[in-house]
Amino acid sequence: MAIQQTYTMIKPDGVRNKHVGEIVNRFERAGLAIERMELGMVTSEQAKANYAEHEGKPFYDGLIAYITSGPVVKMVVSGEDAVKKCRSLMGATNPLEAAPGTIRGDFGLIMDENVIHGSDSPESAEREIGIFFS
Ligand code: RTP
Ligand code: MG
Repeated sequence: MAIQQTYTMIKPDGVRNKHVGEIVNRFERAGLAIERMELGMVTSEQAKANYAEHEGKPFYDGLIAYITSGPVVKMVVSGEDAVKKCRSLMGATNPLEAAPGTIRGDFGLIMDENVIHGSDSPESAEREIGIFFS
């Protein structure tokens, strides 16, 4: 596998509950490199572009409201197979199903506030890096 970049973002609950240092530490400990990192708000336009695939689903409006509700930490992370590695460190989407030892398993409790976002493919990663770091 080649070196990849992925986009990942600590969601408002992760920042509010002070898990930023621990999450960054987990990425670095796993061998991934933090290439870019910025704390700030997500605009409504960025949120809608990032989650375009979910438009029209019952949880969509809540998802957009939530991701724009407070500061997040936006990151570009790189390394061998970084997209998959990042998703495996994050754990399952629903924190109730996320394994202990994963970020969502350790720091999350509910589906709507699940600590972290990560691109789901190299194509999504490229698109999302463009949305948040252009
Ligand atoms: P993310 O995009 O945030 O990294 O999460 P993901 O790939 O693991 O999950 P995805 O299917 O892309 O869903 C995006 C976010 O929408 C919320 N969601 N709620 N109630 C539901 O059925 C439902 N499904 C998804 C979650 O907060 C999820 O992170
Ligand atoms: Mg997703």
